[in-house]
Amino acid sequence: MSPPCSLLLFLSVAQLLSHSSPLPFEQKGFWDFAMDTMDGVGMMAMMRDEEEGSGVVPNEIPVCPFGCHCRLRVVQCSDLGLTAVPPNIPPDTRFLDLQNNRITELRENDFKGLTHLYGLSLRNNIISKVHPKAFVPLKTMQKLYFSKNLLTAIPRNLPASLVELRIHENRIRKVAAGAFAGLRNMNCIEMGANPIQNSGFEPGAFKGLKLNFLRISEAKLTGVPKDLPESLHELHLDHNQIQAVELEDLRRYRNLYRLGLGFNHIRNIENGSLSYVPMLRELHLDNNRLTRVPTGLPDMKFLQVVYLHSNNISQVGVNDFCPQGFGMKRTFYNGISLFANPVNYWEVQPATFRCVGDRLAIQFGNYKK
Ligand SMILES: *[C@@H]1O[C@H](CO)[C@@H](O)[C@H](O)[C@H]1NC(C)=O
Ligand SMILES: *[C@@H]1O[C@H](CO)[C@@H](O)[C@H](O)[C@H]1NC(C)=O
Repeated sequence: MSPPCSLLLFLSVAQLLSHSSPLPFEQKGFWDFAMDTMDGVGMMAMMRDEEEGSGVVPNEIPVCPFGCHCRLRVVQCSDLGLTAVPPNIPPDTRFLDLQNNRITELRENDFKGLTHLYGLSLRNNIISKVHPKAFVPLKTMQKLYFSKNLLTAIPRNLPASLVELRIHENRIRKVAAGAFAGLRNMNCIEMGANPIQNSGFEPGAFKGLKLNFLRISEAKLTGVPKDLPESLHELHLDHNQIQAVELEDLRRYRNLYRLGLGFNHIRNIENGSLSYVPMLRELHLDNNRLTRVPTGLPDMKFLQVVYLHSNNISQVGVNDFCPQGFGMKRTFYNGISLFANPVNYWEVQPATFRCVGDRLAIQFGNYKK
């Protein structure tokens, strides 16, 4: 499985640098960069400067936006109180960090010439406007971190090279048809904590997009959206207001490995609905209002983890988890949680867990009122 989308920014930088290392000319990083922009004498003067703090001003200053820190093709301009993207970003920049500023808008030419940019962080600004052509120069950008801003829509004309988009905590209510047009193969979109309802996804919002991981947590969904990419391996919809999983809801998502539906208001998983996700490994249904174990679990050959804790399940039947024949289940369970349900664990027959790899994999505990 591809790595999840939750890598921290510094990891991405580390990853970026490690990606650069196989190329010998990039290993030199800062020095290489210094060589490009100043003569050897100037560079020595600067090194002496750094060592002795002599205050001698080199006759040429390397290109770097004022106040930012440019090193190893990473341009760090975070926490500077910037209200706009600064000029003079070196054209060979691979990672541009503009997080924690006061940028309000991305203008047409803000990223002009940055054809080598791999990652851009705009996290925690107050951006509400993005020029439709702002991202056009970024022809090789793979990672865009846009969480904690004031966007009301997915920015237009995202580069076809993009593989990761984090746009958590904005004000997106609507994802228009074709919002991801031109993007073909993405690893991850994180768009939780936006005030989006099911009706906010226009038909065809994800048309043509091949996507591995999608998270729309902490939004205003009342059901599982039906028109997400078919390619999804992971779908996280926790902390919404989903009431039920209906028969056809999962029909499109045959490739799902992990499904997160915890912290919703689910009372019922319609019989048969899980048959549409036969590859599922992990199902999170904790912190809902289920009154029974969902039907269909014994038929799920690969299911290993089921979280059902903090529901209203009062009975667990001997055939709720495991198939009746031998050899039908390809992988045994290694995690079942049932604690914080009104079920008396001593009333559950031990044979209920005959297809669990290890007793310790079952978390039962007492029901506390
Ligand atoms: C669920 O559906 C299957 C197949 O249609 C059926 O055999 C089974 O009795 C149903 N279970 C419940 C609890 O309705
Ligand atoms: C739990 O289920 C019982 C019926 O089995 C119902 O009477 C009760 O209201 C439910 N409690 C909650 C908190 O939903």
